[in-house]
Amino acid sequence: MYKLLKTCGRAKRGEFHTPHGVIQTPVFMNVGTLAAIKGALSTEDLEQIKCQVELSNTYHLHLRPGDKVVKQLGGLHKFMVWDKPILTDSGGFQVFSLTSLRKITEEGVLFNSHIDGRKIFMGPEESMQIQSNLASTIAMAFDECIGIPAERPYVEASVARTTRWLERCKKEMSRLNNLDDTINKKQMLFGINQGAIYPDIRIEHAKRISELDLDGYAVGGLAVGETHAEMYHVLEEVVPYLPQNKPTYLMGVGTPENILESVERGIDFFDCVLPARNGRHAHVYTNKGKLNLMNAKYELDEAPIDESCDCPVCRRYTRAYIRHLFKAKEMLAMRLCVMHNLYFFNTMMEEIRQALDEDRFPAYKKAKLNGFEKSKG
Ligand code: GUN
Ligand code: ZN
Repeated sequence: MYKLLKTCGRAKRGEFHTPHGVIQTPVFMNVGTLAAIKGALSTEDLEQIKCQVELSNTYHLHLRPGDKVVKQLGGLHKFMVWDKPILTDSGGFQVFSLTSLRKITEEGVLFNSHIDGRKIFMGPEESMQIQSNLASTIAMAFDECIGIPAERPYVEASVARTTRWLERCKKEMSRLNNLDDTINKKQMLFGINQGAIYPDIRIEHAKRISELDLDGYAVGGLAVGETHAEMYHVLEEVVPYLPQNKPTYLMGVGTPENILESVERGIDFFDCVLPARNGRHAHVYTNKGKLNLMNAKYELDEAPIDESCDCPVCRRYTRAYIRHLFKAKEMLAMRLCVMHNLYFFNTMMEEIRQALDEDRFPAYKKAKLNGFEKSKG
């Protein structure tokens, strides 16, 4: 159940009630593809860095350790010892981005595993069954994420099929939620809007899926090669056609700038591999822009990563020390940077929520973006 607490233009401040607790939105979901945040973060760390929702992947967990194994072990929450919300992506993106020799039919997708090349079939029913076995809080619909550029006739046919797949997902999810041995009988389902960068296809699709009364609605197929301006334009066109009394989720986005711009355009949920991936490469976020800790100028720098950051890393360690850890190839280097970066994202979301609560989001956004810009000059 989504409660819209406040709006500021199109920006939404909400509360999403789930069987695993309340999610305050706008929110950034912390990506743990294989039920672990890359960079050696533990579930305890997630608690320390203000993570509200963890995100895992259907496709990856189906291959390893296998969703049936996770089910036998009591579901993802018990497996990774995390009792707060978990969202699982459906495989609809990973199958298209990671696998080779795909064959898409009305039924679903036949593809080769990126691990051992074996043939696997996944369609809407299989994706729902896997996500039900994983017992995540929120399951995502099985969709086709269309790469950009894409020809209009292909996009029209693909979106029509994604709609039929969504109807099958909804039906299968409701069947699974009524089975005796289902772990999470209140598993929620989000639909996904597609349509590449054709606003009219996106809008038609948004209207169509809004009628299905799902628990939330994602905008997919963005951040796949289009410009930021094109992405913002799609959001401006399509978000008004998604239900206001349900959460909206922009999949796979993005940079702090992208998040601020997208909150302004009505998005509640975000997820992105960037903060963890950048952290593993010594790229850290600060309120004055991004730093590369491998840079020689930090050799004797005794300041924390970000003077204004309250995270467990900045409260204790210096840039010089973390730089040394990277140079010495110590695993701790990555771990500290990933922790800081995720804390930075989660804290920015907290600030965004507070700014919305206090009716000062536009001023907050402007000041935050100005801070990021300064370092570039
Ligand atoms: N992650 C990023 N984009 C997408 C998308 O379009 N579909 C799905 N299922 N996951 C995504
Ligand atoms: Zn920090």
